[in-house]
Amino acid sequence: MSERILIGVAWPYASGPRHIGHAAGAYLPSDVFARYHRMAGNEVLMVSGSDEHGTPITIEADRRGVSPEEVIALYHPMIKESFERLGISFDLYTETHTENHAAVTQDMFLRLLENGYLFRDTTTQPYDPEYKRFLPDRYVEGTCPNCGYPDARGDQCDNCGHTLDPIDLLNPRSKLSGATPEFRETEHFFLDLPKLTPQLLGYLEQGKEHWRPNVLNFSLNLVRQGLPARAITRDIEWGVPVPLPGYEDKRIYVWFDAVIGYLSASKEWAQRQGEPDAWEKWWKLNPDGSAPSRAYYFVGKDNIPFHAIIWPAMLLGYGGLTLPYDVPANEYLTMEDRKISTSRQFAVWLGDILDRYDADAVRYFMTINAPETRDTNFTWSEFYRRTNDELVATYGNLVHRVLTFTTRNYEGKVPQPGALGERDERMLADVRAVFDAVGELVSQVRLKDALREVMRLAQAANVYLDEAEPWKRIKQDREAAGTSLWVVLQVLAALRVLTQPFMPFSAQRLHQYLGGEGDASTLPWEYRELPGGAPLGQPQPLFRKLDEEGLAREMQALAVGD
Ligand code: MF3
Ligand code: ZN
Repeated sequence: MSERILIGVAWPYASGPRHIGHAAGAYLPSDVFARYHRMAGNEVLMVSGSDEHGTPITIEADRRGVSPEEVIALYHPMIKESFERLGISFDLYTETHTENHAAVTQDMFLRLLENGYLFRDTTTQPYDPEYKRFLPDRYVEGTCPNCGYPDARGDQCDNCGHTLDPIDLLNPRSKLSGATPEFRETEHFFLDLPKLTPQLLGYLEQGKEHWRPNVLNFSLNLVRQGLPARAITRDIEWGVPVPLPGYEDKRIYVWFDAVIGYLSASKEWAQRQGEPDAWEKWWKLNPDGSAPSRAYYFVGKDNIPFHAIIWPAMLLGYGGLTLPYDVPANEYLTMEDRKISTSRQFAVWLGDILDRYDADAVRYFMTINAPETRDTNFTWSEFYRRTNDELVATYGNLVHRVLTFTTRNYEGKVPQPGALGERDERMLADVRAVFDAVGELVSQVRLKDALREVMRLAQAANVYLDEAEPWKRIKQDREAAGTSLWVVLQVLAALRVLTQPFMPFSAQRLHQYLGGEGDASTLPWEYRELPGGAPLGQPQPLFRKLDEEGLAREMQALAVGD
């Protein structure tokens, strides 16, 4: 039965290009998941966009001496393009600095206010006595009260993951002047998380067996410890205006508006489809209160509190909308055993790696080495080794060997099979069974295991071929050789489907080499026989082998960057 799947992917700040860590953390896993579900016949809506408000943008604007508008006009298209080149198949990749998003954000704000989940209070906010202005959270740094990390930011500690308010920091300092901030009174709106806590606990304590244990435990602990109310407006000029008179010089807090992006992007998508209500098919609860879709949020681990606690709390307070079904957050990717750092420029930018390597080689490595349950490490030598020893040797060479031999010896057509032996039947049974096995693993967001299973099938086909030896057999028994080739061609026909979620570009090429037409991403997720006599296409090597000099160049560039 067809299901509806809503896929939200963390919105990257439009304050710089994105790197391989972001791809491994959220973008690739969400794309594998989306592509599989589309082929499995489910109705997928996958949305994201650039996060364009808040201090990450104003800090970059100040640094460059330009306006926030100029910053987002530079980076939003750049980020969008790098995702396209990586093959990320968003139904909509938009941005938060749009009229639609502001309207949806303000609607959420007003409804939460009306429903009694927002209240006004005066707070003390950090104020820079030298610059004579209130300081946004990220403009204050200091020591984390939870773990003692000395460089915690005013909004969150990167070391222990706790969300913070600047006033919680020990030894606070202003990022603008370095001065110790004063704390002055200012009026703000607060999201009443204590009031929402019973509902949140009900949500998190029921039917979450499919959640990753670290995500669930982390979230439950935070909620059980007692959530403080959170200020959701700021004294800043850049962001979504507060839709009430008297608040002209304040803006809605970036994290409050960013998570609403999932809803506003769904509405924008519906509008662009010419069916303005189509978003409701994923979002609007059924009359019996059940969800019309399963909503998955792909994020990195630092985003867990916002997606597993704050966004659900906002949705509960608003009422009538689909809550997250799962938040399969990934751990971190390190690089050459060090933390990837944007500020220190210790990163591999997506645009750069895609200039030099096949998108599918990047996708393969980032998935087989994904930080699903623990941090994993990117090294250039592992990237080279796995590309050559696994992608090229196990899969690419299999495809090329079989297709060139077949086209040369069987007039460019799939050979007609003779009687099948036991070994042939075993190979075919394996192919048939693998669709369910991989589909089940992808559904559970165990994408590494799913890709390993696909590669295991390719390896099984290599073993089959080594035993059947059609290249030798053809001299005495052309029909027997043709039968083995037919069997392996069935494996390749299956692999163009099975590899598609993971490596869509090479899956499309393989589809063409097999004589297929049209878009391979619309093939159904099932075994379909490739009949004897069907014409094959012109085969080319599926992947490029990487050479030692390339690796040496990458290592050199790393050392220079140090
Ligand atoms: N821009 C945030 C980050 O990079 C993520 C925002 S996800 C959203 O950490 F859903 F809240 F938008
Ligand atoms: Zn901390």
